[in-house]
Amino acid sequence: MSDLKYKRIVLKLSGEALAGDKGFGINPPVIKTIAEEIRDVYNLGIQIAIVVGGGNMWRGEAGEEMGMERSQADYIGMLSTIMNGLALQDNLESVEVPTRLQTSIEMKQIAEPYIRRKAVRHLEKGRIVIFAGGTGNPYFSTDTTAVLRAAEINADAILMAKNGVDGIYSADPKTDPNAKKYDHLTQMDIINKGLHVMDTTASSLSMDNNIPLVVFNLNKPGNIKKVVQGEKIGTIVEGK
Ligand code: GTP
Repeated sequence: MSDLKYKRIVLKLSGEALAGDKGFGINPPVIKTIAEEIRDVYNLGIQIAIVVGGGNMWRGEAGEEMGMERSQADYIGMLSTIMNGLALQDNLESVEVPTRLQTSIEMKQIAEPYIRRKAVRHLEKGRIVIFAGGTGNPYFSTDTTAVLRAAEINADAILMAKNGVDGIYSADPKTDPNAKKYDHLTQMDIINKGLHVMDTTASSLSMDNNIPLVVFNLNKPGNIKKVVQGEKIGTIVEGK
């Protein structure tokens, strides 16, 4: 355990991460690989909570294009994250990792409701807890959920797994060849440099609670393990 930088983490997985290059839905080999990566980290003795997004099932913009009411569209998004949570739970259990799925919106036949103290107990008992349904409120992102849950369960860090991007850059590396990758930033740097790492609600909550955030590329095998073992990959945001 001594070589572990973090003992309790919140891993933020975007819905898109589960889709792979198909871009939509759940790609079976991709979700299986993610489950295996998480198992390898779990086997180190780390307490892991996962917040999963839903962009592979439903994009808020689709609702906007239809002229749908924002809250209505966001509820569809929340249900998408629950579908992803169920799939992730199944995949983790198929690689022998005990899990509990908790939803912010009660649907007791399907999963446990979110109860902070129970979530912490599950972690202490060696279960991975998957938080689905976002915060349960429209207008809030799953990035905000990750920060909120991390604060609630006293996580040591938030690991923000990205699809193909290996950290925080000064500009979009896909379009700007001069974009520079940062290895280390403070919370204030994010604001001063105008970097868009998370939406502003998530960023301000993160800043207020001062929980270290590591942004890294999920698509490179072994990366989650490297982060928890303190290897310098991706970008770490810590300190005010
Ligand atoms: P301990 O009390 O620490 O032993 O935790 P536990 O999760 O094993 O106990 P519990 O008896 O609460 O749960 C047994 C199983 O039922 C677990 O798989 C839970 O996820 C599941 N479970 C518990 N509460 C609910 C619920 O409200 N809805 C659904 N669908 N499942 C639940």
